[in-house]
Amino acid sequence: MPTDTRQRRIRTALIGCGRQATWILHPAIGVLPRYEVIACCDMNPESATRAAQRFAGARVYESHGEMLAREELDAAVVATTPENHAAIVAECLRAGLHAFVEKPPAKTVEEARALVALSQETGRQVMVGFMMRFRPLNAWAARLATEMAQPPALFNLHVGVGLWRSKVTGYSGTLYFLLSVGIHYFDLVRFFLGEVRQVDARLVEYGEGRAAYAMLLDCVRGVCVFDLNSCEQLTFTDDRRLGGHVNERWNLVGPGTALHLENCDTLTWLRTDGRVERYQPSYLGLSFLEGQAYYAGGYYQELAEFAASIDEGRAPAVTIEDGRRALEIVFAVAQSAQTGERIRVEN
Ligand SMILES: NC(=O)c1ccc[n+]([C@@H]2O[C@H](COP(=O)([O-])OP(=O)(O)OC[C@H]3O[C@@H](n4cnc5c(N)ncnc54)[C@H](O)[C@@H]3O)[C@@H](O)[C@H]2O)c1
Repeated sequence: MPTDTRQRRIRTALIGCGRQATWILHPAIGVLPRYEVIACCDMNPESATRAAQRFAGARVYESHGEMLAREELDAAVVATTPENHAAIVAECLRAGLHAFVEKPPAKTVEEARALVALSQETGRQVMVGFMMRFRPLNAWAARLATEMAQPPALFNLHVGVGLWRSKVTGYSGTLYFLLSVGIHYFDLVRFFLGEVRQVDARLVEYGEGRAAYAMLLDCVRGVCVFDLNSCEQLTFTDDRRLGGHVNERWNLVGPGTALHLENCDTLTWLRTDGRVERYQPSYLGLSFLEGQAYYAGGYYQELAEFAASIDEGRAPAVTIEDGRRALEIVFAVAQSAQTGERIRVEN
């Protein structure tokens, strides 16, 4: 069972070769020199074969069980579906691999808790794909905020996407919307304001995958007002066509100061001395693959961090415990929206 990757590259398996994997994760892995892709696995053999063409010598599998039994591997990058993420990651850990898993890492809090325990038991890391922390302007804003004498304590967040349908058996479209989209932002709220202690949420349902949540999240370092809707332009439908944009804006407000981010593109800082600073990074210095979507989106950095954590024998910046805490918020919000009551979040 290989462990020490310092003298060689990280022998990696890619499990789940669908849209997120082949459009986003695999291109980033392809330009990160620490990864050596040994195998691509998808229950759809055509998808695995197509994905393997990107990585010279990569073998193709339909079953991750067979792959884990046959190959000598250090790590897996898992992007299948929320329904089976937890089970597949657990098998990888038991086979001695570290795992990067797309969000949501599990479909229930209990599954996530079991992964936290298994990660400790096996001494193998699980990193969750909460790439928003790695987006340059979010990371920059967090740094500016912590350097302020009185850090901003009000986080005002608006996110609008398009039609949303459930891909998890037994879950309503509105719960799946929190599980697959809301979860990213719950992690971002924790990133800026610390642990979420309690939530108040209301839900407006228009039917047919159109809904809006209004939420108040009470955090250790402040309060977040978050409205999240699936009534705008971005459309994920069953035929997997993607169109439009996520409409995302946020403000971090403190005494005499505010940080404002518009669609991940321009960060404006209203300083306490009255000056206004704008940050609009240019990615022109990066190669095309490293730039734009992969770098600006935070995907390149999250996968670089996963590799670094393996090489350095330490926990990654985002762990399965962060995944568990974000899932606790998902289900607390769902419960609050259903009951109309304020719900305490388990930390
Ligand atoms: N971080 C982000 O920005 C982001 C964006 C989109 C999707 N995602 C996440 O990525 C994951 C994948 O989403 P997607 O849009 O690529 O879905 P998808 O349906 O396009 O791809 C999933 C792939 O996994 C394969 N698969 C399913 N079960 C499998 C198994 N047991 N063994 C092997 N292969 C299996 C399917 O055949 C399919 O090719 C989801 O969890 C989703 O939430 C993350």
